[in-house]
Amino acid sequence: MKTKKVTIHTLDSMKKRGEKITMLTAYDATFAQLLDESQIDLLLVGDSLGMVVQGHETTLPVTLEDIIYHCRAVARGTQRAHIVGDMPFMSYQSSIQEAMANAGRLVKEGGAHSVKLEGGAQHADLVAQLVSAGIPVMGHIGLTPQSVHTMGGFKVQGRGDGEAEQLLQDALTLQEAGAYSLVLEGIPSVIAKTISETLDIPTIGIGAGPDCDGQVLVIYDLLGMNDSFKPRFVRRYEHLATRIRTAVDAYAADVKNGAFPSEQESFFMDKAQRPKSANASVSAIALAGGCGPGPLSEVSPEASPNVSEAPFSVESSMYSTVHKPKP
Ligand code: KIV
Repeated sequence: MKTKKVTIHTLDSMKKRGEKITMLTAYDATFAQLLDESQIDLLLVGDSLGMVVQGHETTLPVTLEDIIYHCRAVARGTQRAHIVGDMPFMSYQSSIQEAMANAGRLVKEGGAHSVKLEGGAQHADLVAQLVSAGIPVMGHIGLTPQSVHTMGGFKVQGRGDGEAEQLLQDALTLQEAGAYSLVLEGIPSVIAKTISETLDIPTIGIGAGPDCDGQVLVIYDLLGMNDSFKPRFVRRYEHLATRIRTAVDAYAADVKNGAFPSEQESFFMDKAQRPKSANASVSAIALAGGCGPGPLSEVSPEASPNVSEAPFSVESSMYSTVHKPKP
């Protein structure tokens, strides 16, 4: 489906007309294409990939190269959505110069349309410089996973004395610096509501209640890929962990008992097209009693009553799909 690309201006208009914004994480081309076809507005190549793809306990080990690699894959699968590249831990904290160069790589090499970085007012100068260099910036405040050790764990933020005011101040400072949007993570709904109503730029919530201008989830959580991870803020729309295990068990059983691959999933050759040596080996197999129709069997598309499609066509590409005839 060809639709207009989502830009930061689209998001601004959506906030103005009160239309909710959808964002999901994506780490590869296949998922990106599916989410893009579902009209998800923003695809975040999040450093959460460190946990759900790489198997780390935190997002801290993720490198800039990792994010670039996954951004490139996501960019190849995306036509419509706006792609946000996450700045990983220590790719923007040590100096503005280094941060600018790293953000530039996410855009130039990764194909990201904007970058996201965690933290509040302390990054205002960096945000302003990135924006003036032509790189749109999404902020991220509240529960900022890269500060897991400072926070003492992945804990809801904003409940302590003065913390709500600090969050609002950070949000306003980032907006002032030029951020086009803000992720609000792991904060009480009432604070997220105040911030969302105060700011002109859209807020995207995760564990921040229903009053943000949009919502984001990690796609693996939404799909229920990990049945031992179900925090309060996640809604599972699928239970893929169970479904994947069932499918894989069925595949393994079929391989073990010889039911996969079948004739329909195998390739054949017409007699005339076989090299002499192949005919010799077919004859040898036939003389030895045969082992059923195999890749060199005499079965042709015409001879096979049940199959009339691509797997039997000697011209077809190995990867050609069996298309259903048009009605
Ligand atoms: O890395 C990530 O996936 C994120 C979202 C949870 C907002 O930062």
